[in-house]
Amino acid sequence: MTAASPNNRPDIADLLAFYASVGVDEALEDQPVNRFAEVAPKPLERAPAAAPSGDTAAPQRSANMSRPEAGDRPNAPPIARATSATVPDEAQAALARQLATTATTLDELRQYMAAFDGCNLKTTAKSLVFADGNPEAAVMLVGEAPGRDEDIEGLPFVGRSGRLLDRMLAAIGLDRTSVYIANVIPWRPPGNRTPTPHETEICRPFIERQIELVNPKVLINLGGPSAKTLLNTSEGILRLRGNWRVHTTASGIAIPAMPTLHPAYLLRTPAHKRLAWRDFLEVKAKLRALG
Ligand code: URA
Repeated sequence: MTAASPNNRPDIADLLAFYASVGVDEALEDQPVNRFAEVAPKPLERAPAAAPSGDTAAPQRSANMSRPEAGDRPNAPPIARATSATVPDEAQAALARQLATTATTLDELRQYMAAFDGCNLKTTAKSLVFADGNPEAAVMLVGEAPGRDEDIEGLPFVGRSGRLLDRMLAAIGLDRTSVYIANVIPWRPPGNRTPTPHETEICRPFIERQIELVNPKVLINLGGPSAKTLLNTSEGILRLRGNWRVHTTASGIAIPAMPTLHPAYLLRTPAHKRLAWRDFLEVKAKLRALG
Protein backbone atom coordinates (compact mmCIF):
# COMPACT_ATOMS: atom_id res chain seq x y z
CA MET A 1 0.00 0.00 0.00
CA THR A 2 1.34 3.45 -0.79
CA ALA A 3 1.04 6.39 1.52
CA ALA A 4 -2.08 8.45 1.06
CA SER A 5 -1.54 11.71 -0.74
CA PRO A 6 -4.13 14.17 -1.92
CA ASN A 7 -3.95 12.45 -5.33
CA ASN A 8 -4.22 8.78 -4.34
CA ARG A 9 -6.16 9.10 -1.08
CA PRO A 10 -9.06 6.64 -1.12
CA ASP A 11 -12.38 8.31 -1.30
CA ILE A 12 -13.57 8.53 2.29
CA ALA A 13 -17.12 7.53 1.38
CA ASP A 14 -15.80 4.37 -0.39
CA LEU A 15 -13.68 3.55 2.60
CA LEU A 16 -16.57 3.94 5.03
CA ALA A 17 -18.80 1.86 2.73
CA PHE A 18 -16.13 -0.85 2.73
CA TYR A 19 -15.91 -0.80 6.51
CA ALA A 20 -19.71 -1.03 6.81
CA SER A 21 -19.82 -3.94 4.36
CA VAL A 22 -17.36 -5.96 6.42
CA GLY A 23 -19.14 -5.21 9.68
CA VAL A 24 -16.88 -2.45 10.98
CA ASP A 25 -19.68 -0.15 12.06
CA GLU A 26 -18.58 1.10 15.45
CA ALA A 27 -15.69 3.15 16.79
CA LEU A 28 -15.36 1.62 20.21
CA GLU A 29 -12.04 3.06 21.32
CA ASP A 30 -10.29 6.38 20.80
CA GLN A 31 -7.33 4.57 19.28
CA PRO A 32 -7.56 1.77 16.68
CA VAL A 33 -6.77 -1.73 17.98
CA ASN A 34 -5.45 -4.41 15.63
CA ARG A 35 -7.22 -7.45 17.05
CA PHE A 36 -5.70 -9.66 14.34
CA ALA A 37 -2.12 -8.89 15.34
CA GLU A 38 -0.13 -11.89 16.46
CA VAL A 39 -0.01 -12.23 20.23
CA ALA A 40 3.25 -13.54 21.59
CA PRO A 41 2.59 -16.52 23.87
CA LYS A 42 2.90 -15.50 27.50
CA PRO A 43 3.97 -17.85 30.27
CA LEU A 44 1.06 -18.97 32.39
CA GLU A 45 0.84 -17.48 35.85
CA ARG A 46 -0.48 -19.41 38.77
CA ALA A 47 -4.22 -19.42 39.27
CA PRO A 48 -5.52 -17.36 42.18
CA ALA A 49 -5.86 -19.34 45.40
CA ALA A 50 -9.62 -18.88 45.51
CA ALA A 51 -12.07 -18.30 42.72
CA PRO A 52 -13.05 -14.64 42.58
CA SER A 53 -16.63 -14.02 43.60
CA GLY A 54 -17.50 -11.36 41.04
CA ASP A 55 -18.35 -11.89 37.41
CA THR A 56 -15.74 -9.37 36.39
CA ALA A 57 -12.70 -11.13 37.77
CA ALA A 58 -11.53 -13.32 34.90
CA PRO A 59 -7.81 -13.93 35.37
CA GLN A 60 -5.55 -12.29 32.84
CA ARG A 61 -3.51 -15.42 32.31
CA SER A 62 -6.43 -17.06 30.66
CA ALA A 63 -6.37 -14.58 27.81
CA ASN A 64 -3.71 -16.80 26.30
CA MET A 65 -5.34 -20.18 26.66
CA SER A 66 -6.34 -22.19 23.67
CA ARG A 67 -5.05 -25.75 23.61
CA PRO A 68 -5.00 -28.43 26.30
CA GLU A 69 -2.36 -28.25 28.96
CA ALA A 70 -2.22 -29.40 32.54
CA GLY A 71 -3.80 -26.86 34.89
CA ASP A 72 -2.99 -25.81 38.43
CA ARG A 73 -5.71 -27.70 40.26
CA PRO A 74 -6.32 -31.45 40.32
CA ASN A 75 -9.43 -30.99 38.21
CA ALA A 76 -8.07 -28.05 36.29
CA PRO A 77 -9.26 -27.85 32.70
CA PRO A 78 -7.07 -28.53 29.73
CA ILE A 79 -5.68 -25.18 28.73
CA ALA A 80 -3.09 -23.97 26.36
CA ARG A 81 -1.26 -20.92 25.23
CA ALA A 82 -2.97 -19.42 22.26
CA THR A 83 -1.47 -17.45 19.50
CA SER A 84 -3.98 -15.13 17.93
CA ALA A 85 -7.30 -15.63 16.20
CA THR A 86 -7.88 -19.28 15.41
CA VAL A 87 -10.15 -20.56 12.70
CA PRO A 88 -13.00 -22.57 14.18
CA ASP A 89 -12.43 -26.28 13.89
CA GLU A 90 -13.50 -29.48 15.60
CA ALA A 91 -10.53 -29.29 17.97
CA GLN A 92 -11.79 -25.94 19.26
CA ALA A 93 -15.29 -27.30 19.70
CA ALA A 94 -13.82 -30.25 21.61
CA LEU A 95 -11.80 -27.88 23.79
CA ALA A 96 -14.91 -25.79 24.48
CA ARG A 97 -16.71 -28.96 25.58
CA GLN A 98 -13.85 -29.94 27.83
CA LEU A 99 -13.57 -26.50 29.43
CA ALA A 100 -17.31 -26.22 29.92
CA THR A 101 -17.54 -29.63 31.55
CA THR A 102 -14.70 -28.80 33.90
CA ALA A 103 -16.21 -25.55 35.16
CA THR A 104 -17.87 -26.19 38.49
CA THR A 105 -19.15 -22.66 39.10
CA LEU A 106 -20.38 -19.79 36.95
CA ASP A 107 -17.30 -17.79 37.87
CA GLU A 108 -15.05 -20.58 36.61
CA LEU A 109 -17.09 -20.90 33.46
CA ARG A 110 -16.78 -17.19 32.85
CA GLN A 111 -13.03 -17.35 33.34
CA TYR A 112 -12.65 -20.26 30.93
CA MET A 113 -14.76 -18.50 28.33
CA ALA A 114 -12.79 -15.28 28.73
CA ALA A 115 -9.63 -17.32 28.20
CA PHE A 116 -10.92 -19.31 25.24
CA ASP A 117 -9.56 -18.16 21.88
CA GLY A 118 -11.15 -20.85 19.74
CA CYS A 119 -14.06 -18.80 18.44
CA ASN A 120 -13.21 -16.26 15.76
CA LEU A 121 -16.02 -13.95 16.92
CA LYS A 122 -13.92 -13.06 19.95
CA THR A 123 -11.35 -11.31 17.76
CA THR A 124 -13.78 -8.64 16.59
CA ALA A 125 -15.87 -8.31 19.75
CA LYS A 126 -15.01 -5.83 22.46
CA SER A 127 -16.56 -7.79 25.33
CA LEU A 128 -17.39 -11.24 26.52
CA VAL A 129 -21.12 -10.88 27.14
CA PHE A 130 -21.53 -13.55 29.78
CA ALA A 131 -24.79 -12.89 31.62
CA ASP A 132 -26.95 -10.50 33.55
CA GLY A 133 -29.38 -11.02 36.38
CA ASN A 134 -29.61 -13.37 39.30
CA PRO A 135 -27.82 -16.74 39.07
CA GLU A 136 -30.20 -18.07 41.74
CA ALA A 137 -33.25 -17.19 39.65
CA ALA A 138 -36.01 -19.66 38.84
CA VAL A 139 -36.19 -18.30 35.28
CA MET A 140 -33.35 -18.24 32.76
CA LEU A 141 -33.69 -16.55 29.37
CA VAL A 142 -31.36 -17.30 26.48
CA GLY A 143 -31.11 -15.11 23.39
CA GLU A 144 -29.01 -15.51 20.27
CA ALA A 145 -25.98 -13.21 20.39
CA PRO A 146 -25.05 -9.75 21.66
CA GLY A 147 -25.53 -6.71 19.47
CA ARG A 148 -23.75 -3.37 19.48
CA ASP A 149 -25.04 -2.06 22.80
CA GLU A 150 -24.43 -5.37 24.54
CA ASP A 151 -20.87 -5.51 23.18
CA ILE A 152 -20.18 -2.02 24.47
CA GLU A 153 -21.65 -2.65 27.93
CA GLY A 154 -20.67 -6.32 28.26
CA LEU A 155 -24.21 -7.25 29.31
CA PRO A 156 -26.96 -9.06 27.39
CA PHE A 157 -30.14 -7.35 26.23
CA VAL A 158 -29.35 -3.75 27.13
CA GLY A 159 -30.33 -2.19 23.80
CA ARG A 160 -33.77 -1.58 22.33
CA SER A 161 -34.79 -5.22 22.39
CA GLY A 162 -33.54 -5.43 25.96
CA ARG A 163 -35.79 -2.58 26.99
CA LEU A 164 -38.75 -4.37 25.42
CA LEU A 165 -37.70 -7.57 27.19
CA ASP A 166 -37.67 -5.71 30.51
CA ARG A 167 -41.25 -4.56 29.87
CA MET A 168 -42.32 -8.10 28.96
CA LEU A 169 -40.78 -9.42 32.17
CA ALA A 170 -42.39 -6.68 34.24
CA ALA A 171 -45.76 -7.70 32.79
CA ILE A 172 -45.47 -11.04 34.62
CA GLY A 173 -43.92 -9.58 37.76
CA LEU A 174 -40.26 -10.31 36.95
CA ASP A 175 -37.18 -8.18 36.52
CA ARG A 176 -33.42 -8.65 36.31
CA THR A 177 -33.21 -9.47 39.99
CA SER A 178 -35.54 -12.43 39.49
CA VAL A 179 -34.26 -13.79 36.16
CA TYR A 180 -30.89 -14.75 34.70
CA ILE A 181 -30.16 -13.78 31.08
CA ALA A 182 -27.51 -15.10 28.69
CA ASN A 183 -27.00 -15.79 24.98
CA VAL A 184 -26.10 -18.84 22.91
CA ILE A 185 -23.16 -16.85 21.52
CA PRO A 186 -21.31 -14.64 24.01
CA TRP A 187 -19.39 -12.51 21.48
CA ARG A 188 -20.98 -10.01 19.10
CA PRO A 189 -20.85 -11.19 15.48
CA PRO A 190 -19.38 -8.36 13.36
CA GLY A 191 -22.06 -6.12 11.95
CA ASN A 192 -24.65 -8.21 13.82
CA ARG A 193 -24.46 -10.90 11.15
CA THR A 194 -26.03 -14.28 11.85
CA PRO A 195 -23.58 -16.59 13.64
CA THR A 196 -22.50 -19.49 11.45
CA PRO A 197 -23.48 -23.05 12.43
CA HIS A 198 -19.83 -23.69 13.20
CA GLU A 199 -19.60 -20.70 15.55
CA THR A 200 -22.77 -21.91 17.26
CA GLU A 201 -21.35 -25.41 17.70
CA ILE A 202 -18.20 -24.01 19.25
CA CYS A 203 -20.16 -21.87 21.72
CA ARG A 204 -22.89 -24.43 22.46
CA PRO A 205 -21.04 -26.27 25.29
CA PHE A 206 -20.61 -22.99 27.18
CA ILE A 207 -24.29 -22.04 27.19
CA GLU A 208 -25.32 -25.62 27.92
CA ARG A 209 -23.05 -25.67 30.96
CA GLN A 210 -24.25 -22.21 32.00
CA ILE A 211 -27.83 -23.51 32.02
CA GLU A 212 -26.77 -26.58 33.96
CA LEU A 213 -24.96 -24.48 36.59
CA VAL A 214 -27.86 -22.03 36.99
CA ASN A 215 -30.31 -24.95 36.99
CA PRO A 216 -33.42 -22.80 36.56
CA LYS A 217 -36.94 -24.11 37.06
CA VAL A 218 -37.91 -22.73 33.67
CA LEU A 219 -35.95 -21.80 30.56
CA ILE A 220 -37.22 -19.23 28.05
CA ASN A 221 -35.74 -19.45 24.56
CA LEU A 222 -35.84 -16.03 22.95
CA GLY A 223 -36.10 -16.60 19.19
CA GLY A 224 -35.46 -19.41 16.77
CA PRO A 225 -31.68 -19.74 17.07
CA SER A 226 -31.86 -20.20 20.85
CA ALA A 227 -34.74 -22.66 20.55
CA LYS A 228 -33.09 -24.67 17.78
CA THR A 229 -29.74 -24.82 19.49
CA LEU A 230 -30.99 -25.75 22.94
CA LEU A 231 -34.12 -27.77 22.21
CA ASN A 232 -32.65 -30.02 19.58
CA THR A 233 -35.18 -29.17 16.90
CA SER A 234 -35.19 -27.70 13.42
CA GLU A 235 -38.78 -26.41 13.62
CA GLY A 236 -39.37 -22.71 13.04
CA ILE A 237 -40.06 -20.44 16.00
CA LEU A 238 -43.59 -19.60 14.89
CA ARG A 239 -44.48 -23.29 15.18
CA LEU A 240 -42.44 -23.87 18.31
CA ARG A 241 -43.53 -20.88 20.37
CA GLY A 242 -46.13 -21.26 23.04
CA ASN A 243 -45.55 -25.00 23.51
CA TRP A 244 -43.59 -26.39 26.40
CA ARG A 245 -40.47 -28.31 25.43
CA VAL A 246 -37.69 -29.79 27.49
CA HIS A 247 -34.04 -28.83 27.61
CA THR A 248 -32.04 -31.79 28.88
CA THR A 249 -28.69 -30.98 30.46
CA ALA A 250 -25.57 -33.10 30.00
CA SER A 251 -26.18 -34.64 33.42
CA GLY A 252 -29.73 -35.55 32.43
CA ILE A 253 -31.73 -32.86 34.25
CA ALA A 254 -34.91 -32.02 32.31
CA ILE A 255 -35.76 -28.31 32.40
CA PRO A 256 -39.13 -27.12 31.05
CA ALA A 257 -38.48 -24.69 28.22
CA MET A 258 -40.79 -22.16 26.61
CA PRO A 259 -39.73 -21.01 23.15
CA THR A 260 -41.01 -17.56 22.34
CA LEU A 261 -40.50 -14.73 19.88
CA HIS A 262 -37.33 -12.68 20.08
CA PRO A 263 -37.86 -9.08 21.28
CA ALA A 264 -36.00 -7.76 18.20
CA TYR A 265 -38.54 -9.58 16.01
CA LEU A 266 -41.37 -8.11 18.10
CA LEU A 267 -40.00 -4.61 17.53
CA ARG A 268 -40.26 -5.25 13.80
CA THR A 269 -43.56 -7.13 14.03
CA PRO A 270 -45.51 -5.54 16.87
CA ALA A 271 -48.71 -7.39 15.92
CA HIS A 272 -47.06 -10.54 17.27
CA LYS A 273 -46.49 -9.09 20.73
CA ARG A 274 -49.77 -10.65 21.78
CA LEU A 275 -48.29 -14.10 21.00
CA ALA A 276 -45.27 -13.43 23.19
CA TRP A 277 -47.60 -12.11 25.89
CA ARG A 278 -49.43 -15.47 25.87
CA ASP A 279 -46.12 -17.31 26.13
CA PHE A 280 -45.08 -15.22 29.11
CA LEU A 281 -48.42 -15.92 30.79
CA GLU A 282 -47.69 -19.64 30.30
CA VAL A 283 -44.40 -19.13 32.09
CA LYS A 284 -46.10 -17.32 34.93
CA ALA A 285 -48.61 -20.18 35.31
CA LYS A 286 -45.83 -22.77 35.20
CA LEU A 287 -43.88 -20.99 37.92
CA ARG A 288 -46.96 -20.90 40.08
CA ALA A 289 -47.55 -24.61 39.49
CA LEU A 290 -43.94 -25.48 40.28
CA GLY A 291 -44.20 -23.48 43.52
N1 URA B 1 -30.28 -9.97 20.92
C1 URA B 1 -29.88 -11.10 21.53
O1 URA B 1 -30.21 -12.20 21.09
N2 URA B 1 -29.13 -10.99 22.61
C2 URA B 1 -28.76 -9.82 23.14
O2 URA B 1 -28.07 -9.82 24.15
C3 URA B 1 -29.21 -8.65 22.50
C4 URA B 1 -29.95 -8.74 21.40
